[in-house]
Amino acid sequence: MNIMTKPSAKQSFTVTPIKEKIGAVISGIDLTKPVDEETRQALYSTIVDNIAVVIKDQHLNPAQFAAAMEMFGELMPDQITTNLAPGVPMVSILDNFEKNSKGEQAKKPKNATWHTDHTNKELPPKFTCLYAVAIPSKGGGTSVANMRAAYEALPAERRAQLDGMQTANQRISSARLAFGNPDTIAEQARLAEPLMMHPLVRTHPDTGTKAIWFHQGKTETVTGLDPYQTQDFLKDLLQEIITDDVTYTHNWTLGDLLVVDNRAALHKAGSDYNMSEHRKLYRTMVRGDRPR
Ligand code: SIN
Repeated sequence: MNIMTKPSAKQSFTVTPIKEKIGAVISGIDLTKPVDEETRQALYSTIVDNIAVVIKDQHLNPAQFAAAMEMFGELMPDQITTNLAPGVPMVSILDNFEKNSKGEQAKKPKNATWHTDHTNKELPPKFTCLYAVAIPSKGGGTSVANMRAAYEALPAERRAQLDGMQTANQRISSARLAFGNPDTIAEQARLAEPLMMHPLVRTHPDTGTKAIWFHQGKTETVTGLDPYQTQDFLKDLLQEIITDDVTYTHNWTLGDLLVVDNRAALHKAGSDYNMSEHRKLYRTMVRGDRPR
């Protein structure tokens, strides 16, 4: 054994469900200490079962955060490389005080519409993991919606219609850029990659259950629709499927670590806070399988 390696140990923890269809709180575990296989499996199952899991009272620097989340698999790099934690490239820092190349701070919160991460990749992340290090006094929570329950709540004919659809994904959809600012079309051309095809409804590799899964801003087209029709279709779909009973908004306390099972969820950052107050989260992602 490497002299620096700490031995892994069994840790017991308590799980408290939050809502009937989504969310659980884990307490009593210390993720600065490596956990044994039994504990790792118990954590993994709790995340799969509850989709959004808040692990309380952690004290992690970026390297410790990355090391802890590696228990769930290989970490994958964020495709935005401007905000990586120094010396820990698998952790990005989501910081509303971050300045752009012109030295300006964003006026609006980022990631504040429903999405899942990196759908333009062949192997998008199975888990997105967020850890709070600065939080506003009010608002700025992270919302997660159970897309398995949302899918199951739809009538059978609607489910059958969605089942057959594919999304064509790229880093930024052309329609999204055109809606925002036509000048930025050039930016899309710069970022253009081959379209990545994924199912609109994916099957969870562990549970075999189906869930609606997409990133509106990264979806160039849905089967049979042009880019503009696609945006309307996905906007309407979100209105249809996001309901209170499938959604949990986590209002952060310092030291909270939120793990989202992306294979059955969409998530978004809250935009309901004062941007003059600091909000800073560490984020890392665990690579997943090819959605099927
Ligand atoms: C994300 O979309 O990955 C980040 C969500 C957040 O900032 O709450």
